[in-house]
Amino acid sequence: MTETIARGAANQAGAHLNKNAFDEAQDFLPLKGIDHVEFWVGNARQASHYFRALWGFTPIAYAGLETGVRDRTSYVMRRNDITLVLTGALGPDSEIADHVHRHGDGVKDIAFLVDDARSSFAETTKRGARPAIEPVDLDGGEDGVLRRSAVSTYGEVRHSFIERRDYHGVFAPGFRKVKKPAVAAKGMNLLEIDHCVGNVELGDMNRFVDFYRDVFGFAQLIHYDDKVIHTEYSALMSKVMTNGNGRVKFPINEPATGKKKSQIQEFIDYYGQAGTQHIALRTEDIVGTVRALRGLGIEFLGMPHAYYESLADRVGDVGVPIETLEELGIEADRDEEGYLLQIFTRPIQDRPTFFFEIIERHGSRGFGVGNFKALFEAIEIEQARRGNL
Ligand code: FE2
Repeated sequence: MTETIARGAANQAGAHLNKNAFDEAQDFLPLKGIDHVEFWVGNARQASHYFRALWGFTPIAYAGLETGVRDRTSYVMRRNDITLVLTGALGPDSEIADHVHRHGDGVKDIAFLVDDARSSFAETTKRGARPAIEPVDLDGGEDGVLRRSAVSTYGEVRHSFIERRDYHGVFAPGFRKVKKPAVAAKGMNLLEIDHCVGNVELGDMNRFVDFYRDVFGFAQLIHYDDKVIHTEYSALMSKVMTNGNGRVKFPINEPATGKKKSQIQEFIDYYGQAGTQHIALRTEDIVGTVRALRGLGIEFLGMPHAYYESLADRVGDVGVPIETLEELGIEADRDEEGYLLQIFTRPIQDRPTFFFEIIERHGSRGFGVGNFKALFEAIEIEQARRGNL
């Protein structure tokens, strides 16, 4: 086993883990975690059915014409600690319609739960963040007051600061409770958001690494250089930023030059600019979860048989038979701290842009660098099918 670990560690050669990252992160902006992620989509009602029927999310709140909201409709979907908001436009002049027109469906807001939305806004804008929403008190009547503000990050994505300490209603003022029974979702286990990945334009990675360090007080957890993340055809660079309590982890990718088009560039071409590439959902039963999702028709990236032939040598015992991993298309990776199991969906909307990852961690705080090459080759096969390689 020692040898396996050593080999696993060798795989990490171009991955530089900073074990002091959590201590280095500054606490001028205490983020309690990710409150929710909001997607702006072409059809929020149908998207809510997708997340309910296939991913086992329960609709908990709704806003729209019936609740006095005139320009948009939103469905709040929850599963354990994961809250997704799906918002669509009610007319052509809406900023949401414009966003969907240019980007397709995508992530608009990665919202943080904070103690003080006003000071979060003040601290971040003082350090150079662009304001997106000035601090506002949303009056929920007898449910209390929800305070909110927001700043901009890469592309048109924003970070809202949500302060709930004086609010006791469902999700937010303007929303009403939805009482729809949860779907059974047998075998599905999805617990929380593990990380959210941003794809930025060529040359912008360090700018946003600095942004998260200077404006949010994050520290750099891992740095992958393009010597690690490349295939015969394409390459990318990536750095992972974390906040002090480790609950917010943001890898930032930029395309690197290769013989052909980087998958990051393909994303940017179709999204029209920088945006959120994927969100990883943490599970404690990846096998049961992927089996359930596949049974319902969710499509995942396939890995070649050759990947699994060498896997045992590379990662040793990961608690699941290699045949089962291969049957379901799950990847494994090991570093000096432990191992992880992970899998990636195909893009979940028409454009080859956003997708989900499912990740099961056993000690490893990494992101599966040992899989990057095989994974990117798998992505390139799909890129080639789309005529984009
Ligand atoms: Fe990831």
